[in-house]
Amino acid sequence: MRNDQFLKACRREKTDYTPIWLMRQAGRYLKEYRKIREKVDFLTMCKTPDLAAEVTLQPIDIIGVDAAIIFADILLPLEPMGIDLKFAKNEGPVINNPVRTSSDVDALRHINTDEDLPFLPEALRIVKQELNGKVPLIGFSGAPFTLASYIIEGGGSRNYIHAKKMMYNEPETWNRLMDKISDVIINYLLAQIKAGAETVQLFDSWVGCLSVLDYQQYVLPHSKKIIDGIKKEENVPIIHFGTNTTTLLPSMKEAGGDVLGLDWRINLDEGWEKIGFDTSVQGNIDPILLFSSPEVIEDRVKDILKRAGGRPGHIFNLGHGILPETPVDNVKALVNMVHELSAK
Ligand code: CP3
Repeated sequence: MRNDQFLKACRREKTDYTPIWLMRQAGRYLKEYRKIREKVDFLTMCKTPDLAAEVTLQPIDIIGVDAAIIFADILLPLEPMGIDLKFAKNEGPVINNPVRTSSDVDALRHINTDEDLPFLPEALRIVKQELNGKVPLIGFSGAPFTLASYIIEGGGSRNYIHAKKMMYNEPETWNRLMDKISDVIINYLLAQIKAGAETVQLFDSWVGCLSVLDYQQYVLPHSKKIIDGIKKEENVPIIHFGTNTTTLLPSMKEAGGDVLGLDWRINLDEGWEKIGFDTSVQGNIDPILLFSSPEVIEDRVKDILKRAGGRPGHIFNLGHGILPETPVDNVKALVNMVHELSAK
């Protein structure tokens, strides 16, 4: 591996500078992405290994990040489970047969990623070959709560009423659903690792809507089972990410992960202290800050690096995904600043 700074930071080893990658770094803010996307819809892009590989590689050359993340989606495993998924224009994901009852849960199928989603390991193998050791490759999956929220609500949600209703009123059905999803996630992540992913990230994007008590009771055991299950099979670093998680961080640490994601709602040093300095952290600039000027961005980069305090185990990232309207020049400036200001 020519650039192993990201993997070193995952393992809390000393690095020459602070490595950086950006969630959703392959996406619509890049004109090179939009050019391909003009001709094919999003799901077709994911399911065409050559195209998925091409857009995965775009940000490596264009913005100079220290890791690649495979172009895919957390919702891809839902289709072979029996869920009817569409990406409606300007609406995000829509599920036409949301899971609401015990018999809906019974009807969900287990998946075999290599057979049901062969395009994903194939895309990973192409990317690995093309990268030829230039930077490490990250695989990913949704975490069980975030996937359950889509499956039950039928799409994005504001208040998660259906999901929480199942959790509170029918805990047995909820746990059976979470168990099924967790088995799918373990299979989905192991297939990506076997196809070449050197790290995997578990995206629990919407878990911050839960109280600490509910997280501990209804989510933690499932996320822990996944992380322990992967670790038993493969010794790759696992990044455990969520947003709005300021109060949940100690419980997320208990669930596991070599690296915990921090969003911008908490200062990096305070978040890291809550987690403990024996675990790496990833974050935590506000994605909207990239709509400001290089001067404002630089001040914030300096602040975050100062709070990281030169300790090993900090991976620079946004606190959540990059937005489609983000100016590319600011993204390039961010990557350069992090590299230059953190160089030892
Ligand atoms: O980080 C990367 O560059 C890898 C690719 C990636 C995508 N989705 C591609 C994508 C990753 C890591 C994801 C994860 C994902 N997908 C999450 C967790 C991360 C987060 O942001 O919280 C979630 C919640 C999803 C579900 C999802 N997929 C939504 C809500 C949407 C619509 C959002 C939107 O901006 O339109 C998607 C579609 C999607 N996934 C796009 C991309 C590049 C946009 C598709 C397009 O080109 O129209």
